[in-house]
Amino acid sequence: MASSQQQAFARYLAAKRTVDDRALNAHVWQRFGSAVRRMAADRSAPVRMLELGAGIGTMIERLLTADLLHNSEYFAIDSSAVNIDVAAERLGQRAAAGGRFAAVAPLGPGSGPAYVIDLAPAGTCTIRLSAADAFDYLESEAADVDVLIAHAFLDLVDVPRILESISQVLAPDALLYFTINFDGATILEPKIDPALDELILQQYHATMDRRIVDGVRSGDSRTGRHLYHALFDAGYEVLAAGSSDWVVGPTRGGYPDDEAFFLHFIVDTISGALVDDPALDRAAFEKWITERHRQIDQHRLVFIAHQLDYLARPRTQ
Ligand SMILES: C[S@@+](CC[C@H](N)C(=O)[O-])C[C@H]1O[C@@H](n2cnc3c(N)ncnc32)[C@H](O)[C@@H]1O
Repeated sequence: MASSQQQAFARYLAAKRTVDDRALNAHVWQRFGSAVRRMAADRSAPVRMLELGAGIGTMIERLLTADLLHNSEYFAIDSSAVNIDVAAERLGQRAAAGGRFAAVAPLGPGSGPAYVIDLAPAGTCTIRLSAADAFDYLESEAADVDVLIAHAFLDLVDVPRILESISQVLAPDALLYFTINFDGATILEPKIDPALDELILQQYHATMDRRIVDGVRSGDSRTGRHLYHALFDAGYEVLAAGSSDWVVGPTRGGYPDDEAFFLHFIVDTISGALVDDPALDRAAFEKWITERHRQIDQHRLVFIAHQLDYLARPRTQ
């Protein structure tokens, strides 16, 4: 049974879908889409795609909608079993709706739910979902990956380490599509107290830089800008890059879709990250958090986060 925290996170990921759809860099997305279509057309074997930190599967939904999964085998992994269950449920619902996305499940033996999605007349797509740690999966299960996707994920891990692990599993001419990589700027408008606003956001970013998972430094508040050279150093060539900022603000008096929830979740995340920060006056910080929630309820808060997207491939000498 999922905890209320896990359920809230899954709802946050669902709410993030529309925010990400607007944010994804259009140039990088188009280059990615053309390259995937070429890859699928040029071969008889399915294109093997692997997504790390796939959450509740919204990238799969996006790629299905964009007709980018023809003739493909898609492996989506996430360390949270709850997220993988939600992904399976969402895909199942989509399948149950029938039409082009008629699905057959379960599919053969495997470590998680699997679906064959009929994308007639263009072929089929097989989707396998697994609850697994990305590093473990890359070490033991992945091979011959043609397309590696990581969306809103790389800024949570040690980038040089994961790029090294990824390089062990790629097929020649593979594509890397790395999107929504946070890059050190969070903007909240209107200001409450400029000095306090700045201190809180600076301290919040510092928590990303200090994050340790399993004894290893995991995360970088400037992953976006650092990724360019990290990719080069790991033997990759950047084919396209561009910003993919989240911009969430009220339109016609309210926030679209479930984006008010998305904003409340972001404010709660800042609150949780800094709950014990000795640099902050407790009462002033709590008042600030309450005021940010109030701004959302009053449809006044505008939230911007700077991020970058990349398309890359292994460099040939
Ligand atoms: C910010 S969320 C993004 C999820 C999804 N890509 C999206 O944008 O909706 C990051 C995801 O990475 C997963 N995650 C974190 N560390 C992981 C790891 N070491 N291996 C696999 N998944 C991981 C989390 O469970 C979470 O679902």
